[in-house]
Amino acid sequence: MKILITGGSGFIGSNFVRFWLSRHPNDEIYNLDKLTYAANPKSLSDIESNPHYHFIKGDICDSKIVNETISSGIELIVHFAAETHVDRSLDDPLSFLKTNIFGTHTILEAAKKFNLRFHHISTDEVFGALPLDSPEKFCETTPYDPRSPYSASKAASDHFVMAYYHSFGLPVTITNCSNNYGPYQSPEKFIPRMITNLIDGQKIPIYGDGLYVRDWLYVTDHCRAIEAVITKGKIGQSYNVGGLVKDVSNLDLAQIILKIMSKDEANVEHVPDRPGHDRRYSMDWTKIQKDLNWQPSLTFEEGIMATVKWYQNNEIWWRPMKIEAEEFYRRLAASRK
Ligand code: NAD
Ligand code: DAU
Repeated sequence: MKILITGGSGFIGSNFVRFWLSRHPNDEIYNLDKLTYAANPKSLSDIESNPHYHFIKGDICDSKIVNETISSGIELIVHFAAETHVDRSLDDPLSFLKTNIFGTHTILEAAKKFNLRFHHISTDEVFGALPLDSPEKFCETTPYDPRSPYSASKAASDHFVMAYYHSFGLPVTITNCSNNYGPYQSPEKFIPRMITNLIDGQKIPIYGDGLYVRDWLYVTDHCRAIEAVITKGKIGQSYNVGGLVKDVSNLDLAQIILKIMSKDEANVEHVPDRPGHDRRYSMDWTKIQKDLNWQPSLTFEEGIMATVKWYQNNEIWWRPMKIEAEEFYRRLAASRK
């Protein structure tokens, strides 16, 4: 089977390309990626020489390149490409609107033209925020309530995907996943930022009171969930994917990483909060467990240990991204003074 993967040079996309080719070695992968600041071409350096892997540099908003790529016999689209960083969406909402909404629409139009199976990668952030210290979780029927320009753009893209199912019969599925972590994640995101700061002798910056809760999932477990939905999921359905069984606050997480890296609490600093910061995310993934027999395979402790080790051993991969990310954070802080 020929598969178009958009955003395959990003964090989850590159993990998915490697995962899929290891499990389906006879498939052909076409990776369409614009190579924005968030991409790292080195993430797939071990795959580049695989004759089943093809890279196309291009923008998902460019219908010409999208149609040309798809007309080479693509049967399935797995759509990862997006602007993904909440802090950047507060700084430049328009680029999120363009890629996440207009770009997704461009891919949907092309999928409709060739009547292709379409799987959309989305996020738990479309559901809004939950209160602390509550047993509440997001399920597939939770009403959408996005609160940042990023989550608003992802919510809009999800609605377009479902609209193409209902209006045009496009065979679609969606996965709404919680926070991923693991190898090849940009050091602008929280877990790799903490690890790389500590490697550099810098402190961990904790936004606000640090009591925010995310539902962390190891990236290859997300890849397994996407595979389950692509191969066994019901057309026209969405599936929630999450990782943790109990809440872990950002401060708890910082403590875990400090311990693994043999550092003390003096390495934590509280910094001004993110505007509109969502308090808590927690996913109910009963549906994908019951219907598709998926559940996370790694414990949080195993995943975090593996992640710290990976960043300790792969400085050559993250160093250029780290310089860019910390420049962004300095600009952002200056613009808020
Ligand atoms: P990422 O920021 O690491 O990578 C995004 C990739 O998309 C990059 O390679 C970038 O070059 C590419 N891209 C961006 N704009 C493009 C455009 N206009 N045309 C073509 N390519 C473009 O992202 P990620 O963290 O791997 O997230 C992938 C997908 O998963 C996104 O749709 C995101 O919303 C979703 N998601 C992410 C998480 C998470 O925790 N990282 C959780 C749930 C859902
Ligand atoms: O929930 C899924 C989402 O997870 C994805 O859809 C997004 O693409 C992805 O970026 C991620 O969004 P978050 O905003 O939750 O991730 P981030 O790593 O930016 O922040 C995680 C938590 O850590 C959040 O509560 C903010 C906090 N934080 C983050 C950074 C970068 C800090 O306290 N300090 C930091 O330096």
